[in-house]
Amino acid sequence: MLKRGFEIEISADGKPIKREEKVVDLASLMKLADIDRGAKIFKKCATCHTAGKGEAAKIGPNLFGIVGRARATTSFTYSDAMKAKGGAWDQESINQFITKPKDFVPGTKMAFPGLKKPQDRADVILFLEKQK
Ligand code: HEC
Repeated sequence: MLKRGFEIEISADGKPIKREEKVVDLASLMKLADIDRGAKIFKKCATCHTAGKGEAAKIGPNLFGIVGRARATTSFTYSDAMKAKGGAWDQESINQFITKPKDFVPGTKMAFPGLKKPQDRADVILFLEKQK
C-alpha cells in the first residue's frame, strides 16, 4: 500500500522527534538506490579503481565482488593499515569507508576525501554489488 504524508516518530517521553534528527539508515537508502546513478558516481572512483571482473588494478585495487570480499585480498599492494584491518567488506562497512576513508581505516593509502551524500554512497554500493 502506498503511504502518503509524513511519518512522525514519538520519543519515549511522548514528544515528536524532529524529522531532521532522524538518521537515515543504509537499508532505507539501499532501497532507493539506483544503479545508473551509481555508475555515474563510480566515475569518481574510476580514476583509481576498475569494477569489472578480471580488470587490472590502477592506483587502487580492482573492486569486482567487493561486497562480501575479505579486505585487502587482491594482488594489490595494500597499506599496512588496510592489511591490519581484517574482516570482510559488507554494504555497511563500505558505506563507512567511503564516507571518510581515513576515519574508517586510519593510515589507508586511499587518497579520497569521501562521498558526502548518503544516497550517492548507496548508489555506488549498488553499482559495485551488481557488477557481473
Ligand atoms: C585517489 C585514488 C582513489 C580513489 C579516487 C578511490 N580509491 Fe578506493 N582505494 C584506493 C587505494 C590506493 C586503495 C588501497 C587502500 C589501502 O591499501 O590502504 C583503495 C581501497 C579501496 C577499497 C578496499 C579494497 C580491498 O580490496 O580491500 C574499497 C572498497 C574502495 N577503495 C572503494 C572506493 C570507492 C567506492 C571509491 C569511490 C567512491 C574509491 N574507492 C575511490 C584509491 C582510491
